[in-house]
Amino acid sequence: MNQIIESLLSRKSVRAYEDRVIPEEVKELIIRSAMRAPTAGNQMLYSIVEAADPKAKEILAETCDNQPFIAKAPLVLLFLADYQRWYDYYIASGVPELCSKKGEKIKKPKEGDLFLACCDALIAAQTSVVAAEAMGIGACYIGDIMENYERHKELFDLPEYVFPIAMICFGYPTEQQKEREQPERYKQEYIVFKDKYKRLNKEEFDDMFKSTNDRLFGDGVHINGAENYGQHMYIKKFSSDFSKEMSRSVREILKNWK
Ligand SMILES: Cc1cc2nc3c(=O)[nH]c(=O)nc-3n(C[C@H](O)[C@H](O)[C@H](O)COP(=O)(O)O)c2cc1C
Repeated sequence: MNQIIESLLSRKSVRAYEDRVIPEEVKELIIRSAMRAPTAGNQMLYSIVEAADPKAKEILAETCDNQPFIAKAPLVLLFLADYQRWYDYYIASGVPELCSKKGEKIKKPKEGDLFLACCDALIAAQTSVVAAEAMGIGACYIGDIMENYERHKELFDLPEYVFPIAMICFGYPTEQQKEREQPERYKQEYIVFKDKYKRLNKEEFDDMFKSTNDRLFGDGVHINGAENYGQHMYIKKFSSDFSKEMSRSVREILKNWK
């Protein structure tokens, strides 16, 4: 099989790493690959910050929903949706003067600009993951970087038009991680549609989640009051404290873009 496809089909998130440094030249290849990712208007509406300071990694392990493996990752990269650089460039290029000549006010970055910058940052992020995996390095996204905005803003000096959309931990996988089974995915028929979007009904949901539901709730098991996978995920993810903190934190960041 083609090596890229093989790598894509066999990948899984890696959360335990060998105590082994990622060589500079390998890190450089990961970053160079990320920077070749498609980018809206070739503007590179993102910045990448390496959290290299072990103290910063310790803080992130706590602020990102208490995930200790973050502090142990040999390489931690933040992918920031970034309109600050372009806005600063517009100012430096005399755009305010141009606007005032036309009797207009300079436009500030808005919600659409933020979403575009998020697309750029995430595409670069996933490209870095693919590059790392091609070189035998495992990776794991940390979505919780969107939480605790005030602390991350201070820690990394984030200006107002920079949104920390993703963080990725990288490292060589331990043997246990290499052997760990890939998590299953849902059937294509529930994810991929032709021509029109399709909302699923109860029977389709039952089929879609059957194997997960059977595995976790097979013999009338209850988990924290939940009797099926839907209830379980609602409690564990959707209405959890970390999800509420993420929404609070994102609301705080969005104030800059409104
Ligand atoms: C946006 C995003 C956020 C994620 N955040 C976390 C996280 O905070 N902690 C973690 O251990 N895994 C995180 N993951 C990894 C997912 O849990 C993982 O991709 C999913 O369980 C599927 O497993 P796989 O990647 O091994 O196929 C995240 C993945 C994505 C795409």
